[in-house]
Amino acid sequence: MMSGRRVILGVCGGIAAYKAADLARRLTQEGCEVTTVMTANACRFVTPLTFRTLTGRPVVTEFFADPASPVPHISLAQAAELVVVAPATADCLARAAQGRADDLLAAVLLDTVAPILWAPAMNTRMWEHPLTQGNVKKLTDLGHAFVGPCAGVLACGDTGQGKLAPLEEIVAAVRAKLIPAGPLAGKRVLITAGPTREPWDAIRYLSNRSSGRMGYALAAEARRRGAEVTLVSGPVSLTPPLGVRTLAVTTAQEMHAQAMALFPETDIVIASAAVADFRPAAPSSQKIKKQDMQAHLELVPNPDILADMGRAKSRQVLVGFAAESDPNLESAALKKMKNKNLDLIVANAAGGEQDAFDAEQSAALLLDARGGRREFARQTKAGLAAEILQSLEAWLLTTPHA
Ligand code: C5P
Repeated sequence: MMSGRRVILGVCGGIAAYKAADLARRLTQEGCEVTTVMTANACRFVTPLTFRTLTGRPVVTEFFADPASPVPHISLAQAAELVVVAPATADCLARAAQGRADDLLAAVLLDTVAPILWAPAMNTRMWEHPLTQGNVKKLTDLGHAFVGPCAGVLACGDTGQGKLAPLEEIVAAVRAKLIPAGPLAGKRVLITAGPTREPWDAIRYLSNRSSGRMGYALAAEARRRGAEVTLVSGPVSLTPPLGVRTLAVTTAQEMHAQAMALFPETDIVIASAAVADFRPAAPSSQKIKKQDMQAHLELVPNPDILADMGRAKSRQVLVGFAAESDPNLESAALKKMKNKNLDLIVANAAGGEQDAFDAEQSAALLLDARGGRREFARQTKAGLAAEILQSLEAWLLTTPHA
């Protein structure tokens, strides 16, 4: 669920620092890319090597350790999607509340625009002291979140409030911060994207101009809206979106096999791939010599992934795409929605001035099976993805089975 999410784990000098090592391990297991920032005192309780080993990622302890990165707090702070401080000491809270930047962790906390989650651990009297409580209030007012501390027997022998929250609670709080609540939160979304390539011989193939941009933008946006996204992608030259499981395929048959295997575990399918409708009937594993080449290429139909899903669907919501040169785009899209048993369809132009193929921008018309209709002006595919998913969320809210 949190794969590829960039988390800074700030570790302060308290005895609960040993538990932070297990927290680093758990967050890493959940897929987070954990960069550990340790205060000097934290390094006296646990070594940076422990975190380095458990996370497989850098551990930063000082401002000026790396000559290649003279201002590590800036790059660290800006790359983070969440900063979690565990254990947070009274001193670290006080320094953060004052806006101090006299060690690397304090500077990261001051520079980051990412949400900050504190998991304090300290002696009960220190936690309950009005100065500490004042600092907590100041930070809470700034939008910082807190998990724990909880009550129990403390390392100093006292009993009371001040124990680090259970690690499951801290992980749950991290999850809640990174995966926003919303209609797509926790939904498993399967997106097909890009063209397929249908081999003719060892070097030649049939394909189309699809760039995959729309599908990749939808995957990134669905992820941002809290969905668990799997992208089944034909050959494209795009970077897989962060936090999205991306499976590369080449042919329509491979895309069909991957997508159908994932289908039973999927809540929402968005089929934006431009799947080749036909493939060469007898592809050669060798390069065919010019003199042996026929003027006609025999083709056989490929499986229609979305139509097969339409037949197999139970609770799944199916969103198709209809790219047409046909001036009567709308009726062609409606027909496709009905024939393939879809819930929604996005229609856009193929070819001509408004061509959506291999373009940075596209306009679209979104139709749903209940007669709903929305037009989206030509814009970037990221913008369009947000509009489409917003409409899909609204549709889900009014659809009890989804
Ligand atoms: O090719 P066609 O216009 O029928 O495509 C409409 C929709 O069906 C698109 O969402 C496309 O991704 C999907 N499709 C598919 N498998 C195919 C052909 C199309 O999933 N073989």
